[in-house]
Amino acid sequence: MNEVLKNMEARHSVRAYTDRQVPAEELDLILRAATCAPNGMHLETWHFTAIQKAAILDELNEAIKGAFAKSNNPLLQERGHSTTYCCYYHAPTLIIVSNEPTQWWAGMDCACALENIFLAARSLGIGSCWINQLGQTCDDPDVRTLLTRLGIPANHKVYGCAALGYEPEGTPLKEKKVKEGTITIVR
Ligand SMILES: Cc1cc2nc3c(=O)[nH]c(=O)nc-3n(C[C@H](O)[C@H](O)[C@H](O)COP(=O)(O)O)c2cc1C
Repeated sequence: MNEVLKNMEARHSVRAYTDRQVPAEELDLILRAATCAPNGMHLETWHFTAIQKAAILDELNEAIKGAFAKSNNPLLQERGHSTTYCCYYHAPTLIIVSNEPTQWWAGMDCACALENIFLAARSLGIGSCWINQLGQTCDDPDVRTLLTRLGIPANHKVYGCAALGYEPEGTPLKEKKVKEGTITIVR
């Protein structure tokens, strides 16, 4: 297996992080990788907002919880009222990936960019996880006020986020198993 394929095998979702921050040069490399992703008609309407300030991440989590608390869904309500719920697992860095919802492929552009982020991070020894909660809540008025303050264009929706940071040492690795029937090859 070559190094690129090994890196793909090694990528996994990390849901616990140490306090160590992602260095600026590595964040730049990861953001550069994000912008190298394929995107429909090469319109590049996407935007990447990287947050490395713990107080802002906490404020964002509280706004998301506030939106969940207004929901009719009992699970979301429970998360909204929880004192311990943290949608980004206390990762030191979060990249918010947003796009104009005018093209039907806007979310696909963002998914391609997010996978580049995850793989670039893995290649640098940095753990990652897709964080979905802003996708559900970005149009809540309180969440939107904060997103606007952070520079996310008003005409953008959030399609996903990447939590980034270092996995605690000794975390056991999950073996990747592919569900039977997932692949068909016609020759
Ligand atoms: C569209 C999408 C949304 C996801 N949302 C979340 C999320 O909000 N929180 C989370 O912990 N993991 C989330 N994940 C990660 C998946 O749960 C994870 O990729 C899957 O369980 C496979 O595990 P692996 O990434 O370790 O291979 C998401 C993944 C995708 C592709």
